[in-house]
Amino acid sequence: METKKVLLTGGLGYIGSHIVVSLSDPSSAIIADDCSNCDLKQIDRLKQVIPFEKNQVIVCDVADLEAFEEIFKKHKIETIIHLAGYKAVGESVKQPLAYYTNNLNATLNVLKMCNKYDVKHLIFSSSATVYGPQSSPMDESMTLLKTTNPYAETKAISERMIEDYCLVHPEFSATSLRYFNPVGAHPSGFIGEIPSGIPNNLLPYVQQVASGKRPYLNVFGKDYETKDGTAIRDYIHVMDLADAHVCILNNPKQGYRVYNVGTGVGTSVLDLVKAFEKATGVKIPTEVTHRRAGDLQESVANASKINKELGWKSRYSIEDICKDAWNFEKHQSN
Ligand code: WQD
Repeated sequence: METKKVLLTGGLGYIGSHIVVSLSDPSSAIIADDCSNCDLKQIDRLKQVIPFEKNQVIVCDVADLEAFEEIFKKHKIETIIHLAGYKAVGESVKQPLAYYTNNLNATLNVLKMCNKYDVKHLIFSSSATVYGPQSSPMDESMTLLKTTNPYAETKAISERMIEDYCLVHPEFSATSLRYFNPVGAHPSGFIGEIPSGIPNNLLPYVQQVASGKRPYLNVFGKDYETKDGTAIRDYIHVMDLADAHVCILNNPKQGYRVYNVGTGVGTSVLDLVKAFEKATGVKIPTEVTHRRAGDLQESVANASKINKELGWKSRYSIEDICKDAWNFEKHQSN
């Protein structure tokens, strides 16, 4: 009997890699990735953490149905964890058609393959940005308003495509996980977030200031109505995020579900800088500048639903996150 495989689309990326190393049987993982936002050296990095074979990775564009279908002709796929997609908010505003074409075709192809090859479970990598400009804490029962960028729209539309598919396939199990701010790295230091060019996101930028690649951190706005004037986010350790996927994998349920994956704790930009300095002993010079267009003042999860229904909650603190992030950054510089 051929082993039933877990297909991770976009699985060579930052989040996908941490999910693969968290699986109870990583040999059951098949990765489909076009490597547009990562490189094949990631395979060697994965091999430093778990037993992993090069032939578990298939370089292909999930948005290209013909290429993507080849995977299903070779492997019996029981579950798909769908992570593949363009994910830069700012870029999506400048290139809406590229984002709608790529991200929606990828989700469409995933659903077409679920239908044609009797895939039983789907876990979709969604995002807290689907809530749009609503007040925190964000709750799964909230109505999704028009979001502030095409990237977030592709996540919201993909969720609705999956929900509609479930309505006509009652035996199918699908879960959308709305990630808040995934950060940090595997404690080994072998895998973590490798931004291309100047980091858009806060913690990778702080890491590069700490390693001397950048002179200081620009704090995008200190005039928000928050305790220290800087914006607040729900930073979740990427290992907690990976663990949430394993929890869903182990608890399939027919029908469609949505869960926030966050800590429920808000951390301001300056809080994060202080936590990083405390955890690493490295000073982070900062310069306050204007707000970044499109940023929300606060985005924090109501993280109670996944805990109530599945008993899952995040385990790592901001200090753990900063220690692991710095450990990875130092590995990168070696
Ligand atoms: C966090 C805070 C910035 C950089 C983004 C995507 C979101 C998700 C996670 C995909 C904000 C401030 C940042 C810097 C700063 N990705 N900041 N100086 O914007 O909450 O979320 O990544 O799902 O879709 O939007 O994360 O890390 O970019 O910013 O002051 O150099 O840090 O203004 O308040 P964000 P971020």
